[in-house]
Amino acid sequence: MIRLEHLSKTYSGRTGTHQALRGIDLHIEAGDVFGIIGQSGAGKSTLVRCINLLERPTEGRVLIDGKDVTAYRGKELAKLRESIGMIFQNFSLFQQRTVLRNVMFPLELRHTNKREAESRALELLKLVGLADKGDRYPVQLSGGQQQRVAIARALANNPKIMLCDEATSALDTMTTHAILNLLRDINRELGVTMVVITHSLSVAQQVCNKVAVLDEGIIVEQGATAEVFGNPQSEATRRLIAADKGLSLDEYVAAQHKPYMEVPETPASVLAAGAVNAVGSVEAGNPAGTAAILDPVREAKGGDK
Ligand SMILES: Nc1ncnc2c1ncn2[C@@H]1O[C@H](COP(=O)(O)OP(=O)(O)OP(=O)(O)O)[C@@H](O)[C@H]1O
Ligand SMILES: [Mg+2]
Repeated sequence: MIRLEHLSKTYSGRTGTHQALRGIDLHIEAGDVFGIIGQSGAGKSTLVRCINLLERPTEGRVLIDGKDVTAYRGKELAKLRESIGMIFQNFSLFQQRTVLRNVMFPLELRHTNKREAESRALELLKLVGLADKGDRYPVQLSGGQQQRVAIARALANNPKIMLCDEATSALDTMTTHAILNLLRDINRELGVTMVVITHSLSVAQQVCNKVAVLDEGIIVEQGATAEVFGNPQSEATRRLIAADKGLSLDEYVAAQHKPYMEVPETPASVLAAGAVNAVGSVEAGNPAGTAAILDPVREAKGGDK
């Protein structure tokens, strides 16, 4: 559905150039909730903004449903953007408009008949659980409610794709959970393909079926969410997992390597030869010491079997 081919983006300014994306190849399939995860500055927002061409890639192509949209301009581009909803961390609502008129805005742009626009907006507010808040102003709503309005507005044009850039980063844990559930329901029930940008492992784990890890403009690994986080291959992924657990990378790596006292499955004969140690703390040539340390563990476990 969305294919990025050898995508690169270089920002040029008076102070020099910065390569924010380098040779990105990505395939997001219809129905995916696809997470792009990475630290601050990794290039996540740049990447997602290239999908709807809010940012023009310096090199490479963006294909949507097999069509190269990279060169779209004018009406063609406007039509493409109608089919792609977007929500942001700061909700980006119009403060001078009521909730209902915020949701009506994309329909007004398309000159939809007012009554029709109103009834569609009401329907969407109902979908996001705010049927009774249409005449409020954004400032009168909580953060979670404001993000629900932004979601309703993003759905107004019946998009087939929704881009979510740190959509829950300004929300507390409970509200994050509720908003992610809402996004997942929209994905399942309306069949909207989602691209979820996040720096949070738990957000990606809660809602994404696939993830790509972005580090300094490069995708360092991608795959099914459980696989990527269950068996991380790159340091960038390990760093994200460590951060989620409130650990430094070193602490996380150390915790991954269980102390030898917890690895009694290791054949005693190998240990006795002083050849094995998960953490390098059993020194070669010191089998007696090793056996002495292991003995109490073996005994507690009922001895060697
Ligand atoms: N308009 C711009 N001009 C110059 N450099 C930019 C511009 N936008 C982003 N950058 C740089 O590109 C890099 C990637 O930025 P981007 O906003 O994509 O990161 P991010 O992963 O979304 O970070 P965060 O999690 O903090 O939002 C950063 O080093 C940033 O300073
Ligand atoms: Mg960003």
